[in-house]
Amino acid sequence: MDKKNVCVAIDGPAGAGKSTIARAAASRLGLRHIDTGAMYRAAALEAVRRGIFLDDGPALGEMMADLDLRIEFADGVQRVYLGDEDVSEAIRTPEMSAASSRVSARPEVREALVRLQRELAKRGGSVMDGRDICTHVLPDADVKIFLTASPEVRAKRRLDELIEKGENASFEEVLADMKRRDYNDSHREHSPLVRAPEATLIDTSAMALDEAIEAVLSCIKEEA
Ligand code: DC
Repeated sequence: MDKKNVCVAIDGPAGAGKSTIARAAASRLGLRHIDTGAMYRAAALEAVRRGIFLDDGPALGEMMADLDLRIEFADGVQRVYLGDEDVSEAIRTPEMSAASSRVSARPEVREALVRLQRELAKRGGSVMDGRDICTHVLPDADVKIFLTASPEVRAKRRLDELIEKGENASFEEVLADMKRRDYNDSHREHSPLVRAPEATLIDTSAMALDEAIEAVLSCIKEEA
């Protein structure tokens, strides 16, 4: 197999370290990293800015029809633009985590973003991470991985990130938010988060970041 054109799909719950691990693995393999969660976050940011009710499917559908969402790659690292504005940092707030979980339940939003994700995957080898990549977006991916960790470990990692950014949060709040998002993501009607039966399960609860990256790399090397 041509390793430069390999297509790797990674799914898993919030805070499992998917994006960090996928980005590192992609960089080691010379592939692009496509972070689909960032696209749902950008759609949520635009909806909030336009004052659209986040559960209003038809209004969100209209917004998606003229949304100027662009994905660019700088040294394989994804940047997200709304028009000319680079929103890659603005979408990383707890408010956008909650808002993206709501807009991602709407089929009007999912259809438009899945189309974009499939187009991006056609342009060459990549590691794409999200919730429905193995099951729906790229069912023919060469390698499929389900990356997870216990809710407590995921909440602790998210809390550390927030503290590092200077934000105020308690472990209990972050854990409750994590469980709420797990529930929403895995119980929604359209493309809920489920492990594809053929995906390799990697539980990073007891792994340091380096070990998790190595586990993903060796899975890709074995299966691609
Ligand atoms: O991975 P993340 O936290 O950046 O994702 C933000 C939200 O988008 C999350 O609530 C789940 C949703 N999402 C989705 O429904 N499908 C994807 N492929 C990626 C993310």
